[in-house]
Amino acid sequence: MSEKVAVVTGSSRGIGKAIALRLAEEGYHIVVNYARSKEAALQTAQEIEALGRKALVVKANVGKVEKIKEMFAQVDEAFGRVDVLINNAASGVLRPAMELEESHWDWTMDINSKALLFCAQEAAKRMEKVGGGKIVSISSLGSIRYLENYTAVGVSKAAVESLTRYLAVELASKNISVNAVSGGAVDTDALKHFPNREELLADAVAKTPAGRMVEPKDIVNTVMFLLSEQADMICGQTIIVDGGRSLLL
Ligand SMILES: NC(=O)c1ccc[n+]([C@@H]2O[C@H](COP(=O)([O-])OP(=O)(O)OC[C@H]3O[C@@H](n4cnc5c(N)ncnc54)[C@H](OP(=O)(O)O)[C@@H]3O)[C@@H](O)[C@H]2O)c1
Repeated sequence: MSEKVAVVTGSSRGIGKAIALRLAEEGYHIVVNYARSKEAALQTAQEIEALGRKALVVKANVGKVEKIKEMFAQVDEAFGRVDVLINNAASGVLRPAMELEESHWDWTMDINSKALLFCAQEAAKRMEKVGGGKIVSISSLGSIRYLENYTAVGVSKAAVESLTRYLAVELASKNISVNAVSGGAVDTDALKHFPNREELLADAVAKTPAGRMVEPKDIVNTVMFLLSEQADMICGQTIIVDGGRSLLL
């Protein structure tokens, strides 16, 4: 088949789901990846199919390299190609630096950072066969700013942004572009895990120069721009979508 295929990690819920649905609207068949939320993943797939596109639901913990390989093998069988990888899945232990244990660090880095490297390797091999492709990761302001309790996740996102630059250089000659979108706080399930959620939401509303919080559609719009031909010469960049929040001291 020659219709384009997008793999969206962590697309059972939240921002990943919003990206998956927009890609389906734009004509892509979608690989809906999840780790735990089977019902939500099936619901996402149903919504994609209602848009007339195909959905392959794959349970795979992207923190494990063997699960990533199994996921791409399933994609080969179902679709036989990969054109877009959205590295969106994220998890993490929210604690101050002095309270982090080794298992917290490893869990967070594996799912958020290591997954980009090994998903990108698998995706790029397949993108090469169809003449190129695009990889976009979702990052957050914690990569460059201090956010309370965000230590491990912030560092894992800094790794994502750095790896984005390395991959971008090495894959550019294969016509594969690699970039990232870094968002300010978006009110998804992810925020429910923050002990300081209310404070975080109040801060985002009060201190965003644009006058409102970032919404999933803001991230989706920027992802779609990076996937478009207009962005063909954007290489290894992280575009901040935060309504100006990170510009304030
Ligand atoms: N919300 C924000 O304020 C915000 C701001 C900036 C950037 N971001 C970034 O945007 C992305 C999406 O965030 P979100 O707010 O939409 O998060 P979310 O609502 O918590 O959703 C996370 C998604 O990732 C999946 N996932 C988690 N661990 C996984 C694993 N090990 N393997 C595969 N999938 C896994 C989840 O699936 P299961 O339910 O099946 O586990 C779910 O689909 C993340 O990279 C996040 O860091 C979020």
